[in-house]
Amino acid sequence: MRVKLLAGNWKMNKTNAELPAFFAGLSTELRIELAAVQDKVEVLFAASYTLLQKALELAGPHKIRIAAQNCHWLESGAYTGEISLGMLQDIGVRAVLIGHSERRQYYGETDQSVAAKTKAALSKGITPITCVGETLEERKANKTEAVVQRQLLAVLNAVEQPGDLIIAYEPVWAIGTGHSASSAEAQDVHAFIRQVVHQKMGKNAAAAMRILYGGSANPANIAELLTQPDIDGGLVGGASLKPDDFAKMIRAALEVAH
Ligand code: 13P
Repeated sequence: MRVKLLAGNWKMNKTNAELPAFFAGLSTELRIELAAVQDKVEVLFAASYTLLQKALELAGPHKIRIAAQNCHWLESGAYTGEISLGMLQDIGVRAVLIGHSERRQYYGETDQSVAAKTKAALSKGITPITCVGETLEERKANKTEAVVQRQLLAVLNAVEQPGDLIIAYEPVWAIGTGHSASSAEAQDVHAFIRQVVHQKMGKNAAAAMRILYGGSANPANIAELLTQPDIDGGLVGGASLKPDDFAKMIRAALEVAH
């Protein structure tokens, strides 16, 4: 049984001063203790580096996980401005987003760097949430599966065991556009991803791997997305910034998980 995971990606938003009200608001809106439903739904936020420590402190009592949004694959060295996995581990971070399309698009992230980062995270015992997804042009040219397969195989070829690797399918055309993939469109690609994992890593790895959907997921569409057999959770941008919206999504995930 794959436990649903609702992950918020705050991107370059929020300050430390805003965090106490955010977590208090989330807890009030939820009206349930997340710790009591951990076997059904897990919650995570990916935060900017400067927020991680405070977020860990505030999220810990609710059993909410905190992830970084990027990392370097090397331990240390002359890489000005970079953060290593050891540094994240040092402050208690146990998960990291890797290869988000915004990083691929604006910061030169490649299939190779995404693979190296994913491999390094797994070897450190830090959960990688590795993102794949096609652009609108690629979808229109019927290249969705080819692109997703290329991105995924770069990662799977680099790691020996998938461990607790999580894949996020985020079609670029759906991110921040208000135009989510339909549940059927998302399910098709999720099933394809699971099939590629099956071929490469075997049946058990494919059955255990969580595959999240991201791209304009919101309180109105999350339940339908999560009822699809291969959609194990969401990676949520805009709608994760407001505690009331995100609480609604967690509650919807809980209902689906029952
Ligand atoms: P939106 O939910 O704002 O479309 O962002 C999705 C995303 O990029 C999550 O990583």
